[in-house]
Amino acid sequence: MKTIFLILTLSLLMSSCGDSDEGNNAKTTNNNTLTTNNEGTATKNGETNGNNGTSNNNKSPDELQIEMGKKLFAMPAEGGNVFSCVACHGLKGEGAFLRPGHPMTGVTKRETFKNGQLDSLNDAVNSCLTEWMRAPTWEEDSDEMKALVALFERDAIGSGDELTFEIVDPPTDFSAGNAAEGQTLFNGACAVCHGVDAVGGPLAPPLNATELSVEYISERVRKSGSTDSKVYDELTGGIMPFWSKERLSDVEVVHISTFISELEEPVVDPDNNDPGPINNNPGRDCEKTHAKVGKVLNFSNLFHDVSGRAEVIDDCTIEITGFNYDGAGIDVRIWTGAGSPPNYGAGYGISEDLLKAGGYADVSFTLTLDENDSLDDIDGLSVWCVAVGISFGDGEFE
Ligand code: HEC
Ligand code: HEC
Repeated sequence: MKTIFLILTLSLLMSSCGDSDEGNNAKTTNNNTLTTNNEGTATKNGETNGNNGTSNNNKSPDELQIEMGKKLFAMPAEGGNVFSCVACHGLKGEGAFLRPGHPMTGVTKRETFKNGQLDSLNDAVNSCLTEWMRAPTWEEDSDEMKALVALFERDAIGSGDELTFEIVDPPTDFSAGNAAEGQTLFNGACAVCHGVDAVGGPLAPPLNATELSVEYISERVRKSGSTDSKVYDELTGGIMPFWSKERLSDVEVVHISTFISELEEPVVDPDNNDPGPINNNPGRDCEKTHAKVGKVLNFSNLFHDVSGRAEVIDDCTIEITGFNYDGAGIDVRIWTGAGSPPNYGAGYGISEDLLKAGGYADVSFTLTLDENDSLDDIDGLSVWCVAVGISFGDGEFE
């Protein structure tokens, strides 16, 4: 039991999960020395990992395996580039962004994959590891594959119908292109990697002021991917994933291409320290009556360089100061947890998505609770990856 625990914990730490510079973040973590203390808590370079609600100390081997699966799904793969599964696939459904790949719903029940070309889930995962993530493959009986399957069996429940997708030629008639519609579509489908309004993101370059033609843009959307792919035909190069007919219609590609081709100036300055519209509920005034007013927490750093402090200002306002986070997670929000330790799995979001090129360095902002929310059930906060359900850092109010 203890041995299983240690192996899982160590492999969790060794799988890459930090910053995303230059596509080789896995390599930086590999050099860290890992030690374990006699409580079985793994520490990395002397830092304690997981000292709160997300601590592994009380978890069963099954729960640890699921946690490992979540990290594998949410973080870049060891030895690969910056892409994680969640950049291209929803776990439980579509989630906050439309992604190039289908969600994992029902995936463990499917009998064939990639349009019938592969007949095991392991081969399908390895194909994505090789083609998109440029990472080493995982054996069928590896800890990684078992953890991923355990996660899918618990969280990606669905019918198991085989899915089909068609790689099609780009559209040729752009006369109906509408930039405003394209902007909305872009921010729902492409911002995950290219940043909101194409200013550039942690996973992909800016596309604004690049003077790309609609023909070139739509060609990239429809045909991007390795030219010598084993499972996809007629791709024309690039590491960005193609978008099949099932994921974006031609009309949508026309709108998006029109939007990008007309972008001239950067819409926002990616280097400024304005946190952006994080508060999804501004404009409420509240009294200071609740017993939690004045309570404070400090965010731990589990992944993505999270740190900072939160203070309850009044009955509906929480102020975050000195906030640091690399901004590179997909669909990550400030999230509540009730109880001690706080249970974030049953909490809810009180901020907008924190995706931001350049991340947050010593940033301050306030969050306003919705009228239906109450400090009663907010005992802690997490920087929470919503799509997969893991904490990048959290703390309990004291
Ligand atoms: C850069 C994008 C990208 C990344 C990263 C990626 N995939 Fe995929 N994946 C795709 C695309 C595109 C397809 C094929 C089309 C589709 O699913 O709609 C696909 C297909 C699949 C399929 C086959 C689905 C089926 O039934 O045919 C599985 C399973 C899968 N991916 C799992 C994963 C896992 C697990 C990871 C992380 C280890 C991952 N993928 C990472 C883009 C990606
Ligand atoms: C999973 C991450 C990801 C998503 C999602 C994504 N891209 Fe990309 N894209 C990239 C990366 C990485 C590059 C640069 C490498 C390359 O060209 O393949 C890129 C390159 C491009 C380029 C070429 C830029 C140039 O200067 O040559 C265009 C155009 C583009 N993307 C458009 C889009 C559009 C439109 C969408 C949404 C429909 C989108 N991308 C979604 C990752 C992504």
